[in-house]
Amino acid sequence: MKAVTARRYGPADILRIENLPRPEPGPGEILIRIRAASVTTADWRLRAAAFPGGLAIIGRLVAGLWKPRHLVPGSDVAGEVAALGAGVTGFEMGQRVVAVLGHGGHAEYGLAKAEDAVALIPEGMNFDEAAALPFGGLTAQEFLRDVAQLRAGQTVLILGASGGVGAYAVQIAAACGAHVTAVAGPGRAAVLRGLGAERVLDYRRDAITGRFDLVFDTVGAMRWPESRRLLDKDGLFLPLNFGLRELGHMLRAKLSGGPRMALHVSGDSRAALDALLELWRAGKLRPVIDSRFPLEQIAAAHRLVETRHRAGAVVLEVDPATEGQSQTTGLT
Ligand SMILES: NC(=O)c1ccc[n+]([C@@H]2O[C@H](COP(=O)([O-])OP(=O)(O)OC[C@H]3O[C@@H](n4cnc5c(N)ncnc54)[C@H](OP(=O)(O)O)[C@@H]3O)[C@@H](O)[C@H]2O)c1
Repeated sequence: MKAVTARRYGPADILRIENLPRPEPGPGEILIRIRAASVTTADWRLRAAAFPGGLAIIGRLVAGLWKPRHLVPGSDVAGEVAALGAGVTGFEMGQRVVAVLGHGGHAEYGLAKAEDAVALIPEGMNFDEAAALPFGGLTAQEFLRDVAQLRAGQTVLILGASGGVGAYAVQIAAACGAHVTAVAGPGRAAVLRGLGAERVLDYRRDAITGRFDLVFDTVGAMRWPESRRLLDKDGLFLPLNFGLRELGHMLRAKLSGGPRMALHVSGDSRAALDALLELWRAGKLRPVIDSRFPLEQIAAAHRLVETRHRAGAVVLEVDPATEGQSQTTGLT
């Protein structure tokens, strides 16, 4: 099978397309014939060893000390069940599935653990749309619903609102009944309003004003002292990107009382993926796709993600199938 490989850490050009043996599903595993995958900020960080703020050593201990631990990158995929390992129940050959693999997703075939984040793709959702959902959608859902416990009527400021996570955060916050102020670059206002933002600010032009119950910074644009001034007494600052400095800020926030700060690392589960798909079925969440690249242009896809100026998900079309109508939102 054709697969993207990363044999060392480095710039996007180190990525290659190689012919590798098709993986065999072990007990409890599902082999997926991958049709589409997404290229995420996590894929870029793992390829370049670009770990944020002072976390380089911890990052390399997890991801591989001298080179990426996994030869084939890519985590979020959509495709068809191609084989079932021993003991797998609840799935059938040929079913359309969306899955978070962890690694090995930028290839024609990949392995998912049947107990983990794998779900049937609902009718009416195509492979590109399904692949575009998990990274941004699961992250936004976990941070807003589980960590912040966002409630109807609360006010939330979302920085990086048009990004890979932000475009889903706006929708999920609005679905919770919160009042959303979205901060993004120029030209994003109309679509962000369409996703549920009540107010849109351009970070290159507008000052951020107002009081908020939650500041969710998906891009690393705000520090604790600034967010503290924007938060209500019981408010919460939730930065997605954090390093040693933010750990220090969080300790200071705990000691000084008043608004809180929380640091969290998201996970993936079947239940969370199902909840996300339920939001889609209820018409409260739309996949947002910035652009699509064929497998062979994986380096270009990585370069785009690395700019930190994209709108929604970047989709790798591994083996596009002919499918029905797209309901995708594009932000540009
Ligand atoms: N803690 C965790 O568990 C966890 C989980 C997932 C992701 N993450 C991290 O979270 C980060 C977010 O990922 P992502 O994929 O959403 O990033 P992204 O797509 O690269 O975000 C870029 C977006 O941010 C906007 N932006 C750039 N500068 C801004 C500024 N100063 N103020 C407001 N918006 C600005 C850009 O808008 P324009 O294009 O208009 O400039 C663009 O839409 C990544 O660093 C990732 O590693 C952490």
